[in-house]
Amino acid sequence: MIKVSLISLGCAKNLVDSEIMVGHLHQAGMVVIPEAEKADVVIVNTCSFIDSSKEESIGHILEVHQNRGMTKRRKEQKLIVAGCMAQRFSKDLSSSLNDEVDAFIGLDQVTKVAPIIEALYAKERAAAHVPENFVTGRSTYIPDYNTPRFRLTPKHFAYVKIAEGCNHPCTFCIIPQIRGRHRSRTVESVVAEARQLVKEGVKELNLISQDTTFFGMDTWEQRPNPRTPVDSSRGTALTTLLRQLNAIEGDFWIRLLYTHPAHWSDELIQTIAECPKVARYIDIPLQHISDAMLGAMQRETSGDYIRDLIRRIRAGIPGIAVRTTFIVGFPGETEADVDELCAFITEAKFERLGVFRYSQEEGTRGAKMENQVPAKTKEARWHRVMKLQREIAAAVSKSHVGQTLKVLVEEAGVARGDADAPDIDGRIYVPRELPVGEFAEVTITGFQDYDLLALPKGERPAEFKVAKQAQ
Ligand code: F3S
Repeated sequence: MIKVSLISLGCAKNLVDSEIMVGHLHQAGMVVIPEAEKADVVIVNTCSFIDSSKEESIGHILEVHQNRGMTKRRKEQKLIVAGCMAQRFSKDLSSSLNDEVDAFIGLDQVTKVAPIIEALYAKERAAAHVPENFVTGRSTYIPDYNTPRFRLTPKHFAYVKIAEGCNHPCTFCIIPQIRGRHRSRTVESVVAEARQLVKEGVKELNLISQDTTFFGMDTWEQRPNPRTPVDSSRGTALTTLLRQLNAIEGDFWIRLLYTHPAHWSDELIQTIAECPKVARYIDIPLQHISDAMLGAMQRETSGDYIRDLIRRIRAGIPGIAVRTTFIVGFPGETEADVDELCAFITEAKFERLGVFRYSQEEGTRGAKMENQVPAKTKEARWHRVMKLQREIAAAVSKSHVGQTLKVLVEEAGVARGDADAPDIDGRIYVPRELPVGEFAEVTITGFQDYDLLALPKGERPAEFKVAKQAQ
């Protein structure tokens, strides 16, 4: 029996691809094990978003290869490189990693992983080894509700990939060239998968894609421009999906990740407000606020549009927590642009915020732009924005003290509220006896930077009890 070990890097979209590969390996009767040293085949599912992710991917490939000589079994071990880096660079990597890699498989081959492994075993290894390259053209694959899949997340939450690919022209991003044009699943397919997950005990469905708000719109007739107001009567839309997911029986959260600001509508705001199972949390990467930067990044939005949208979201969905990301140091960014960004962050008070230093990525239009910002300046700008956000985050955390929240217990002593997405946001420290994988009601008693401290609802901190006894 062939034993396979898989190392999954990159984002949640890549993790779902890993889950699909594991599902197909199980279906083919192969065994998937965590220990690379005991495996016959090791798959590294790579990320290629920015230089540091490429370096991390290459590091894992080389480490697996170097360890191959350690035992007899490992001398025979096969190494397969999958994911975004294989999709993007398989031709270049075939020559540079000729000795290390046995096969590259692309994003469209995740369901073919078992026959690819069998083909590697069947093949007589030529004296001059050339890695097999199974990557084909631009990615077009999208999974369905019945695609074999083995979840790698904890039992109580799941990622649901509702669409794949991206049609946006952002000048800093390589992902559309890797993942191809946007294609949505049908509402029926996503709802069927969600029903099954809830039946299996999943308490949180995290809806993911490159642009979740674009869900269904690829099936519509062409809109004259991306800023034309969204009208879901034109066909499948996120609003239809959310209402149907919300109608599934059971106690669970639906979380929206990766929403592009250009496709938000009043209808979507109203839908979230009216669907109690949709978490009061949105992830909306804004990238900048200065018109000059938004134009250069080709974000299809403007500063005024974004300010108005955030106002409408906050007014329409009381209690919403907004997560966003910004990029500092994009080519041509001036100190005045950063001043404008800081003023906006101060005014908008985002509950969750990530800041990236711009990374000059080969193959993007941003990389060829003049006026690249020196690394030192990017660093200084990053520190300036992070310092500002730390103060805002502390005030946000402080505002929760005394509140009662519903939380999902992640592991013994650690929970998340609906304002915290898995892996990226803060934590709520709770007593260890709260059952893992279940919801609980807690009262917030304190905070440490981005994290909160809590006790089960109704219990008071020890000092409160002591103070009471002393009275
Ligand atoms: Fe995700 Fe990295 Fe690919 S961020 S989409 S795994 S390039």
